[in-house]
Amino acid sequence: MKILMISGTYNRQSRTWLMLEEARKHCDTYDVETEIVELCDYAITVGQKDTSHQISELVEKINESEAIIFSTPNYQGSISGLLKVAIDHIPERGLKNKSVGLISVSGGIGNMSQPLSHLRDIVSSLEGLAVATNIACHSDDFIRDEEGKSSISNEKILERVKDMVEELYRHTK
Ligand SMILES: Cc1cc2nc3c(=O)[nH]c(=O)nc-3n(C[C@H](O)[C@H](O)[C@H](O)COP(=O)(O)O)c2cc1C
Repeated sequence: MKILMISGTYNRQSRTWLMLEEARKHCDTYDVETEIVELCDYAITVGQKDTSHQISELVEKINESEAIIFSTPNYQGSISGLLKVAIDHIPERGLKNKSVGLISVSGGIGNMSQPLSHLRDIVSSLEGLAVATNIACHSDDFIRDEEGKSSISNEKILERVKDMVEELYRHTK
């Protein structure tokens, strides 16, 4: 079984990615192969005419995975444009029979759940099955050490990441 984790931020190894790193740790408990894709490493163009190697590779990674976790920063009350552009390359019914975990990382608490509802609709339109345990977190759920390295400080968020991985595993095995 493979879980593909897709980070939709433009910032390398930032909070959106950190949430996936935490999920990956829990996957080690199960017999699950994992991979984190950072979309900022991909040259993705708008529209579906992009037949580049990177896009084919991304779609292939999705096809080969039984479960996906999308982690997105909250941009203007929604998912990042980068993630949406990447998702637009997934073919029709491209998430059929795949279990999907959803994570959003916001700057504040104002509109934290909106990216999750938008993602849930997108996943459903691609015939994926979003699991119930989704995660909306924000900047106060993280701390930064003196060297500027961030980590998740909210125990409830850590617990919820564990629950999400457990639910994905249960749905998929
Ligand atoms: C263009 C842009 C729009 C944003 N819009 C929102 C927003 O609507 N609500 C919010 O809570 N945070 C917003 N933020 C803050 C980000 O969600 C927050 O900084 C998040 O941690 C970014 O994820 P990252 O650290 O993984 O890159 C926005 C940031 C940017 C750059």
